[in-house]
Amino acid sequence: MSWRVPLADIDFGSEEEAAVTEVVRSRWLSMGEITQQFEAEFADFVGIKHAIAVTNATAALHLACVASGLGPGDEVIVPSLTFVATANAVRYTGAVPVFADVESTDWLNISPASIEACITDRTRAILVVHYGGFSCNMPAIKGIARRHNLIVLEDSAHAIGSELDGRKLGTWGHIGCYSFFSNKNMTTGEGGMLATNDDALAERLRILRSHGMTSLSWDRHQGHAWSYDVVDLGYNYRIDEMRSALGRVQLRKLPANNQRRAELTRLYRDLLSELAPQVKMPFEEKRGTSCHHILPILLPAGMDRIRFMEGMKVHGIQTSIHYPPVHQFQIYRDEWEKRGGPLPLTEEIAAREVTLPLYPAMQDEQVEWVVRAVQESL
Ligand SMILES: Cc1ncc(COP(=O)(O)O)c(C=O)c1O
Repeated sequence: MSWRVPLADIDFGSEEEAAVTEVVRSRWLSMGEITQQFEAEFADFVGIKHAIAVTNATAALHLACVASGLGPGDEVIVPSLTFVATANAVRYTGAVPVFADVESTDWLNISPASIEACITDRTRAILVVHYGGFSCNMPAIKGIARRHNLIVLEDSAHAIGSELDGRKLGTWGHIGCYSFFSNKNMTTGEGGMLATNDDALAERLRILRSHGMTSLSWDRHQGHAWSYDVVDLGYNYRIDEMRSALGRVQLRKLPANNQRRAELTRLYRDLLSELAPQVKMPFEEKRGTSCHHILPILLPAGMDRIRFMEGMKVHGIQTSIHYPPVHQFQIYRDEWEKRGGPLPLTEEIAAREVTLPLYPAMQDEQVEWVVRAVQESL
């Protein structure tokens, strides 16, 4: 389908082509020098001691849970208004995700009060998600974690470049996890990054990423190692050099692209309040600096969302939903019904939310087309 305005678009050009070509010509394709450079540049950008590149953010989340020592009998508090990978990463370890509600219809992130209400003597960690690139209330969440001796993990898939109190999201907790999937603010097609200031955690994450082995093919190629031991039950979550090369170029473009997303978001807010005041645009409160990953709106309660989205399609505008709530998916529903209550705000927001197009190359005029289509589709 060819959209007049697609939901998202990548910013790829000759620099990305040149970076990949250079790797292909170098004849070293998996984790090596380029990956080390990408990790160092990413660590510098977010202000963290260790950045560890992996195949995708789902792998990053899984490793974060494993390295945190989570396992059967443990509970991890997560939002339900997220992509299913957040909760699945907890499940992979045998631990149980416990779903907390969000703050409000304005701030769609996990609520500190709801987190407190979910704590039991089995709770080991809180895994937050910075929805759309907007910050969770990290000072409050870290306070809860300190009082109850809990680990804090950050799913920062949406939040590359976002900040709160001058500190990048993904660096507030014990481990941050970022995604470079195709629709993210910077992309390598598939890809992800772990971030931590803890030397021991970083060492374990590096070993877990590559089969639990104590040396890499790259070390042996360099003549730094002849053999290896296997000291942990690891995985193959390595990234390749082509993706790391793309990541380095995309990271350089990120600040300007995030800036453009912020401008477009401001324009959406002005035009929607003028032309479609029935629609609520969340994240009005001022809290930190978002990287504006997506543009969520809430339709008036009770409106037929599918009809609205079909109306947008007639205008050639692609829309999406972020997200069907995880606790209502078949794989989680039965267990959750036995232990948990309803999540009223999550369920209300999940029923009313529609995501509008947002990407750096979008023109002001296209925002206007989208908002006029919203006005008509309502
Ligand atoms: C909130 C969230 N967490 C995790 C992921 C998983 O990321 P990846 O596709 O890199 O595995 C995504 C991807 O869309 C996401 O949006």
